[in-house]
Amino acid sequence: MAGVTDVPELIVALDVASAREALALVRRLGDACRFYKIGSELFTREGPSVARAIIDEGCDIFLDLKFHDIPNTVREAARAAASLGARLLTVHASGGAAMIDAAVEGAGHDCGVLAVTVLTSLDAASLGAAWGRDQLDVEKEVFRLAGVARAAGSHGIVCSGREAPSIHAAFGDSLALLVPGIRLAGGEAHDQARTSTPGAAVRAGARYLVLGRAVTAAADPVGTMARVRAEVALIP
Ligand code: C5P
Repeated sequence: MAGVTDVPELIVALDVASAREALALVRRLGDACRFYKIGSELFTREGPSVARAIIDEGCDIFLDLKFHDIPNTVREAARAAASLGARLLTVHASGGAAMIDAAVEGAGHDCGVLAVTVLTSLDAASLGAAWGRDQLDVEKEVFRLAGVARAAGSHGIVCSGREAPSIHAAFGDSLALLVPGIRLAGGEAHDQARTSTPGAAVRAGARYLVLGRAVTAAADPVGTMARVRAEVALIP
């Protein structure tokens, strides 16, 4: 994939309800952040124009729409995301190898496909119930799906900071890890069960860190980004 660097990249989640709020945040952060995540709420409310507006501000976009459909549909959705200018997009790994492979083909050279293995909202019992089996070992399923994603040519996967060390140990740099749920030491966890500090996530092998409320709910978002960047820069 083009444009990949060795330096961990910081992505701020635009978990807001309108393009107006999203652009206000992008302008407030200015040079402190040049990479933003657009999820299904903002995209469904505002459509592709919000992504174009942020790209026009000179920023990169991670389109987190978690595609999960037949391969042909996902290929064309990924092609549309790439032509919109997204640098990263997500699919569900449980859509299978052919679907992930189709996403990679549609996304092309300039847009990386990240696979979501098991949603962090699912535990062993609810995953087993969803898939019609007795209790499943969530970590085993995460590993299995990470392997499916890599074999299908995925750029990387989304995982928590807790899973990142073992996945990085198993797959090395062949699978870029994107870690959400980042909090500065002592920061409020909000509703996240598995948070990581920026430093811990990078030591665990993260290539991309997604920052949500740690930055967006901070009294000083620019200063918070500077603290995150300084912490990440200290990791050898
Ligand atoms: O505010 P906070 O840092 O908790 O936000 C994290 C962002 O990362 C949100 O946009 C959330 O939807 C996303 N995310 C997550 N856990 C995942 C995948 C995505 O928190 N497993």
